[in-house]
Amino acid sequence: MKHKLTFPDGFWWGAASSGPQTEGWAGKKHENVMDTWYRTSRKDFFDGVGPDVASDFYHTYPEDFKLMKEIGMNSFRTSVQWTRLIKDLETGEADPEGVKFYKDMIAKAKKNGIELILNLHHFDMPTELLEKYGGWQSKHVVDLFKKFAKTAFEEFGDDVRYWTTFNEPMVIPEAGWLYGFHYPKLVGQGKEAVEIIGNINLASAKAIKAYRDSKKNGEIGIILNLTPAYPESDSKEDAAAAKFADEFFNQSFLDPAIKGEFPKDLEELLRKDGVLWDLSEEDRKTIAENTVDFLGVNYYHPKRVRAPKNPDKYENWMPDRYFEEYEWKEGRINPYRGWEIFPKAIYDIAKNVQDNYGNIKWFISENGMGVEGEERFRKEDGSIEDDYRIDFYNEHLAHLHKAIEEGSNCFGFHAWTAMDCWSWNNAYKNRYGFIGVDLGDQSRKIKKSGRWLKEVSDENAILI
Ligand code: BG6
Repeated sequence: MKHKLTFPDGFWWGAASSGPQTEGWAGKKHENVMDTWYRTSRKDFFDGVGPDVASDFYHTYPEDFKLMKEIGMNSFRTSVQWTRLIKDLETGEADPEGVKFYKDMIAKAKKNGIELILNLHHFDMPTELLEKYGGWQSKHVVDLFKKFAKTAFEEFGDDVRYWTTFNEPMVIPEAGWLYGFHYPKLVGQGKEAVEIIGNINLASAKAIKAYRDSKKNGEIGIILNLTPAYPESDSKEDAAAAKFADEFFNQSFLDPAIKGEFPKDLEELLRKDGVLWDLSEEDRKTIAENTVDFLGVNYYHPKRVRAPKNPDKYENWMPDRYFEEYEWKEGRINPYRGWEIFPKAIYDIAKNVQDNYGNIKWFISENGMGVEGEERFRKEDGSIEDDYRIDFYNEHLAHLHKAIEEGSNCFGFHAWTAMDCWSWNNAYKNRYGFIGVDLGDQSRKIKKSGRWLKEVSDENAILI
C-alpha cells in the first residue's frame, strides 16, 4: 500500500540548468573561463566534448520549453551569461543580440506557463577579467559584476520575478584555487581562496542592492551547495573537524547571505591564521544591509569528516589543516557516479534553515542523480527507463516532506536537470536529465522520470 505525500499549494516542480552548460557558443561576445579551458585543452573533458555546442539551447529553447511543459514543470532556473549579455565588460553595456535572445527565451518560458528563475553567475567568469584582474580576487571585478547585474535587471527585470546572484559560489575557490578541478586549476592557494569567499559575498550583496535600487517587483536570493558535514565519531576532535567543515564550506556563504555577517568562530580562526578576507567596514555594511529574500539549496551528497591525520601536509594555509574527508563504509553509493546517496541530509538541511536561519523561505534548487552509460537502460521504444532516478527523487522528497510537515518554509523542488546538459570536465559523462539529448542530432526524448514528474506535478504529491 503506497502513501500519498502532498506538498504545499503552489509548490515549484521544476529543474535547474545554466547558460554555459546548455546554450553553446553561438552569438556569444566573450569567453568564460570554462570556454577557454576547453578551447586550450580539450583532452581534459570527457570524450573531448565541450560547451561549444552543448545542448544547443540557444537554438532549441522554443521546443525545449514545450517539452518542459509536457513533463509538468511549472518552473525552470537557468542563468544569464555575463559573456553573452554584456558587450563592454568595463561599462556593463548590453549586447543587442544577447538581449534579444534572453527576451525571447523569457517570453517562450512564459508562454508555456513556466516561471523562470534567472541566476547571474554559474562558475562563468569572463576570461578577460581573470587574466587582467585576477577574477574574484579583485574588488574592481566585484564592481563590474554589479554593473552586469544592473544591466540584467534593467533589461529583464519587468518580466522575471525571481533572481539569484550566484550558483554554488563555494565551488569557485574550492575547485579553482584549493583542489584544482576547475579552471584556473590551482592547488593549495588557501589565502587566495579565502579572499575570494569574501569578495563573492560582497559581489552578491552589491548585486542585491542593485536589484533593490532598480525597484523591480520581484525577489532576489542566492543558491548555495549546502553539504552537511557528519563527524566519524563522537570524539571532540572529530566534532571540531565537522564544525570547521560546516563553517568554512557552508556558513561562510550562508551566514552573510541570510544574517548579513560571517560566522564569528571562523573569522577568529582565519584572523589568527593570518588569512582573513579583506573587507572594509563599508564592505561589511553593504553585506549586512543586503541580505537575500529567499535561499536556494543544491544538495547531492554529504561530507563525512574527521580530524586530519596530517594537518601540516600543505605548505600554504589550507582548510585541510582542520578536517579531512573519508569514505563512510556504511554509506550507499551511486554506482554510476560514485557519490554517496544520503537522502536524510535534506531533512537535516531543512531543520538547520528552520532553526538557525529564521525559517527563511527556501527551495531545493538542485538535487539529482548523475548516471554514466545511461544508454544501457534504453528500451525498444527508445525511452530510457530510469527507475533508479525516480527512486532517488522519491526518497529525497519524502525527507523534504517530513521537514515541511514540521514547519520548514520550503516552496519548491528543482531537479538537476531538465534536458541532459554539459558539465564542467565531466561533459556528458553523467546524464541527469528528465529528457535525454542525442548529441548526434540534438533530438530529445522524454525519459521515464519525465513522465513521473508529470504525475507528481499534476497531483502536487508523491506516492511512496
Ligand atoms: C552542481 C552544479 O554542483 O552539480 C552543476 O551546479 C553541475 O553545474 C552539477 O553540472 C552536476 O555535476 P556533475 O559533475 O556530476 O555533472
